[in-house]
Amino acid sequence: MVSSLPCHTVTGASGFKLCCYQGFWMSESWAAAAAAIQRCFEPHLDDVIVSSLPKCGTTWLVALTFATMVRRVYPPGAADHPLRRLNPHQCLPFLEGLFATRREGKLEGLPSSRLMNTHMPLQMIPHAIAAPGGGGGRVIYICREPKDMAVSTWHYFRRAYPEQAFSDVVDLLCDGTMLAASPGSVLFLRYEQLLLVPAENVRRLARSLGLPFSADEEKDGIVRGIVELCSLHSLSAMEPNRTGYVDPGLKLPRQVLFRKGMAGDWKNHMTPEMARRMDSIVADRFRTTGITF
Ligand code: A3P
Repeated sequence: MVSSLPCHTVTGASGFKLCCYQGFWMSESWAAAAAAIQRCFEPHLDDVIVSSLPKCGTTWLVALTFATMVRRVYPPGAADHPLRRLNPHQCLPFLEGLFATRREGKLEGLPSSRLMNTHMPLQMIPHAIAAPGGGGGRVIYICREPKDMAVSTWHYFRRAYPEQAFSDVVDLLCDGTMLAASPGSVLFLRYEQLLLVPAENVRRLARSLGLPFSADEEKDGIVRGIVELCSLHSLSAMEPNRTGYVDPGLKLPRQVLFRKGMAGDWKNHMTPEMARRMDSIVADRFRTTGITF
């Protein structure tokens, strides 16, 4: 199936091939995974899926959601908290990774509520979860100012492809990016808001998971503890995030997941023309959604 899809190799990034599956550009292995997810993924009513485009704050949201869900077993201050021993991405399965390597059977072994993450567009997640008022599952979605996402993407890719020019990444995104989400069972978070008022957004996250913080937890500083545990400063200093690879194939060290973590870094990288071009595409695509950046 994948070999029959329209494909192109990313300019500058030698050998990085994208193919177009159901209108979305993705790597070949993700396209194969997307087809397998649509065919075989059996959602449970209480599944929680952290969903994002790459470089929009996935690692942060994964850590916050995980820490919020396990807080009664592992309070954020616990010395043996999994986030002190593991990279956030090792704390939950990545759907594309599982399905691309035929390890989806692992999902059945997860305790309820199952927590997982994906970069797939919402339309590709089975309806039982993603449909408004659908099966009761939850999608926790994060979006980010597209120009900052472009800068973050470039910094990430150029670790694997040093010859990759920033302008090529901007071209790639302008030609192919699309963000999507719908209300209902989806909690829509924005990276910039999470930076500004993290505690308030973690409370929204917990409510959306059906696990609101109790008055005692508020008094005990659990919200603040989760925010601190999952901060860029704290996570990037932890041993499991300073060693090992996020992608052993591309030799991308885990450290590249934690860079500046700020809003507006695009101003340090983009020409006014690049910024105008992205702004006008985003304004056009988002016109009917009411979302502005
Ligand atoms: P920058 O490259 O702009 O610094 P993803 O996890 O989806 O790959 O997103 C990576 C971006 O999120 C990077 O942005 C990274 O620095 C930032 N990030 C990672 N962990 C973070 C955290 N705990 N708090 C805030 N930002 C974080």
